[in-house]
Amino acid sequence: MEDQWEKLIREIEGEIWQDFSETVKEHVRNPKNVGQIKDADGYAYLQGQCGDSIQIWVKVKEGIIEDIKFWTDGCGTTIASGSMITELARGKKLEEALSITPLILLEAMGGLPEDSEHCAILATNTLHEAIKDYQRKNH
Ligand code: FES
Repeated sequence: MEDQWEKLIREIEGEIWQDFSETVKEHVRNPKNVGQIKDADGYAYLQGQCGDSIQIWVKVKEGIIEDIKFWTDGCGTTIASGSMITELARGKKLEEALSITPLILLEAMGGLPEDSEHCAILATNTLHEAIKDYQRKNH
C-alpha cells in the first residue's frame, strides 16, 4: 500500500492527473482516516466491478459515527473517495450518513472524470453497508 501511494504521489503532478480537482489531489497526497478499527461496531468489504476493493470500519456511539476508517487496494481515485466519504460520515447520525449519495460525494470531491465515477459509488456503497452491518448487529 505504501509503495502504491508513493507511486501515486509521484504521478500526481503529471499529465494523468490533470483532469482531477485539487480536492482529489489533496486527498490522494494526504488521505484521511486510513487504517482499521479493531473493535469496530460495523464493517464492510466491497469489491467493485473493476476488481478494486474498499473496506470501512465504523465505531458508533449514541447513534453517531464516532470513528471511521478505511482501507483500499484500489487506485488513487479510490483512495480519495475513501478519504472523503469517511470525512463526510464522521460525526454524523447514522441516518444522515446513510443519506450520503455518490452524487454528494462527487460534489464534495469537485467531481471526477466519468470513467472514475464508479470509485465514488463503491466508497458510498461500502459506507452504507458498514452502517447496515452495525444496524443488523444492534436490532
Ligand atoms: Fe475501480 Fe477505483 S478504479 S474503484
